[in-house]
Amino acid sequence: MTDRFTDRTILITGAGSGLGRASAVRLASEGAKLSLVDVSEEGLAATADAVREAAADAEVLTITADVSSDDETQSYVDETVAKFGRIDGFFNNAGIEGRQNLTENFTAAEFDRVVSINLRGVFLGLEKVLKVMREQGGGSVVNTASVGGIRGVGNQSGYAAAKHGVVGLTRNSAVEYGEFGVRVNAVAPGAIWTPMVENSMKQLDPDNPRQAAEQFIQANPTKRYGEAPEIAAVVAFLLADDSSYVNAAVIPIDGGQSAKY
Ligand SMILES: NC(=O)c1ccc[n+]([C@@H]2O[C@H](COP(=O)([O-])OP(=O)(O)OC[C@H]3O[C@@H](n4cnc5c(N)ncnc54)[C@H](O)[C@@H]3O)[C@@H](O)[C@H]2O)c1
Repeated sequence: MTDRFTDRTILITGAGSGLGRASAVRLASEGAKLSLVDVSEEGLAATADAVREAAADAEVLTITADVSSDDETQSYVDETVAKFGRIDGFFNNAGIEGRQNLTENFTAAEFDRVVSINLRGVFLGLEKVLKVMREQGGGSVVNTASVGGIRGVGNQSGYAAAKHGVVGLTRNSAVEYGEFGVRVNAVAPGAIWTPMVENSMKQLDPDNPRQAAEQFIQANPTKRYGEAPEIAAVVAFLLADDSSYVNAAVIPIDGGQSAKY
């Protein structure tokens, strides 16, 4: 591992599980100081343990907050700046899948719930963090979109609308903030084996989620699920100076799924 994040502060939302946790571990093992945000206090505690296992002397701040709340977003940004003085990297990642259903059965309430976390939450994070990064003279943001933000998946009205929106927000802020030394990119994961995907398989087949999972992944060119550290590696690249001229990119990490006819 390198030490390319030494003296850098990275803020991660959705840090209590899956992609957020794997990224926290990866970034800490490359020297980052971390501010970890999630609604789940338990998840945050488990991530902090995993981080310390990977990097015993890592500086870690955990903050329980709901990314869809304006006030709580302002608080997690303020607490991070109060402790570390700056935010060098922001992994704007928290999200939920929502219930799967045909559009006619989706319901406006479920649509609002998913969009409020997956899209409004990403906007609120950008709104607050981009100001900090502009004032400090630079930074790098990675938003979590999805293959469902660049392709139609089906049965996911709220998720599709939100993740396509995340792609739009990414390009919009990248174009606005490039001149301030701030880069904004997105990752678009495919099927990565995390609790979210496990739950998704339970929705597809409550009686036999394992079989549903096996069947589902056969359509992928690699015929396997991605693992969270495989996303973390790309997130680390985008947050580091290695990607200094990458701005407004939306990078699929999906084993080639989104290219398939
Ligand atoms: N796993 C995949 O295959 C996959 C594919 C494409 C995109 N994604 C996206 O990746 C991101 C992370 O997903 P994951 O697979 O790690 O899922 P996960 O369920 O393992 O982790 C998501 C984390 O976000 C937190 N969270 C949920 N609502 C929140 C809120 N309102 N405020 C703060 N935290 C909240 C949860 O508590 C959880 O810890 C999500 O945006 C998801 O849409 C995942």
